Amino acid sequence: MTRSFEKVGVVGLGTMGAGIAEVFARAGLGVTGVEADPAALERGRGHLEGSTGRALAKGRLTEAERAEILGRVTFTTSLEDLADADLVIEAIPEVMDFKRALFTDLDRICKPSAVLATNTSSLSVTEIAATTARPGQVVGMHFFNPAPVMKLVEVIHTVTTEDGLAEEVAALARRLGKTPVSVGDRAGFVVNRLLLTYLNHAAVLLENGLATRDDIDAAMKLGVGLPMGPFTLLDLIGLDTSYEVLCVLFQESRDRRHAPAPILRELVTAGLLGRKTGGGFHREEEPGGPPPTAKPSVGSVAVLGEGAEELAAKLADAGFKTASAEAADVVVALSRNPVIELAAGLPRPKRLVGLHLVGDRIAEVASTALTSSEAARAVEGLVRIVGRTPVRCKDRAEFVVDALLYPYLNDAVRMYDSGYATIEDIDSAMKLGCGYPSGPFEMLDELGLETVRDGLRALYAEYREPSFAPAPLLDQLVTAGVRSIRDLP
Ligand SMILES: NC(=O)c1ccc[n+]([C@@H]2O[C@H](COP(=O)([O-])OP(=O)(O)OC[C@H]3O[C@@H](n4cnc5c(N)ncnc54)[C@H](O)[C@@H]3O)[C@@H](O)[C@H]2O)c1
Repeated sequence: MTRSFEKVGVVGLGTMGAGIAEVFARAGLGVTGVEADPAALERGRGHLEGSTGRALAKGRLTEAERAEILGRVTFTTSLEDLADADLVIEAIPEVMDFKRALFTDLDRICKPSAVLATNTSSLSVTEIAATTARPGQVVGMHFFNPAPVMKLVEVIHTVTTEDGLAEEVAALARRLGKTPVSVGDRAGFVVNRLLLTYLNHAAVLLENGLATRDDIDAAMKLGVGLPMGPFTLLDLIGLDTSYEVLCVLFQESRDRRHAPAPILRELVTAGLLGRKTGGGFHREEEPGGPPPTAKPSVGSVAVLGEGAEELAAKLADAGFKTASAEAADVVVALSRNPVIELAAGLPRPKRLVGLHLVGDRIAEVASTALTSSEAARAVEGLVRIVGRTPVRCKDRAEFVVDALLYPYLNDAVRMYDSGYATIEDIDSAMKLGCGYPSGPFEMLDELGLETVRDGLRALYAEYREPSFAPAPLLDQLVTAGVRSIRDLP
């Protein structure tokens, strides 16, 4: 039987629910919006009127179209008004007890054929479904914030979901102009599972003192081309929400990397929840840093490693004197790996600084335990002279960008290899859900499987974190000489 979804209910008209109601109404469906709090109900109504009003002002809607959209939505405080809905989606707070109580009520009120959906970001859809007498008709429909703008919808099926229902709900999502990805009921689904693990890793590296908040943010934004750095994004998502999602992930996986970094707990406990409280990793009243210094005063520079000639030529063009490592005031070692081993062979190891050029916008400036602050500052200045942003960090395996990026890519390979989602769906989910310029499998192809595999080996050797060990599939592909994971039969 193919269902027809014409009348839908949206329960909870907060941040997500109001936007979801708008999405359905714009696609021509009749919507009943149910909100427990009368003030929130008025805000929900205001959201719809405001949003369609702006579209009218910009010429994206005509007066008649706007009136039609507004006419399709009814607002109520009574769940009983959902008796004839074909599908009801719930967007109430992320608390299992609230969701279970609501689904028990919806199961009693809604007609037997109705599909019940939850917009939960992290809770078990299976557990929510189990409170009803129709677990076969319960799915997750995970929209992203802001719902009218973000194209992705994760459609979650459980072991009890009726055959074919997830596809029908995915077809509904397409009718809404969204791109659905189909996934099973695993904590965090695709996006939050990959994203929050990476964000938490960034927080752990910050706590370990690998680099500062701003250097890590700059590294990921300018080095990888992500829309924003991890700490800006954590502040945007909300540290409390991030903390909760990580707790749910950890509860299911028992993977140490899902255990929220202590700094998250500390900031949440202090009430520093991110943008919504005016402070999180970033505080509003912070003064800007000192302006970058002008041309550094360096007598002579030695450049070692792969690509040394090109960099030395650029520095010479900029008026710097280049010299041998023994004679130079600053020794720059271009390297993807820690440079401390080179220090032993130098007469003045405090002048040695590691440099890793990432993409064409940043350079990681690695200080060893022996590097003097003068030498590090001088190299930061040289990096600016050659048109890059310096990212200061400690001399650790894979420095900053690759230390954060490779485990994320490894997680994506493990996710695919476990049969959880397809390569295309994982790539789409990360692009559409996070605004990433490319999906993890596209990034893997671009970087090269072997480079990433070797980087993961180095990370594992340095940090001994079990999940940094290359995913067996990645290892096998490299061993077999396969260039892209897409080339698998
Ligand atoms: N905020 C996000 O970025 C985001 C993104 C994706 C998914 N989600 C998920 O969407 C859900 C809602 O999140 P939100 O941020 O919109 O929350 P919110 O707090 O902004 O809104 C929840 C609304 O539900 C109402 N409500 C509570 N209990 C109710 C009940 N029994 N009946 C009717 N209304 C009720 C509240 O009054 C409130 O207006 C959560 O499960 C969350 O995890 C949130």
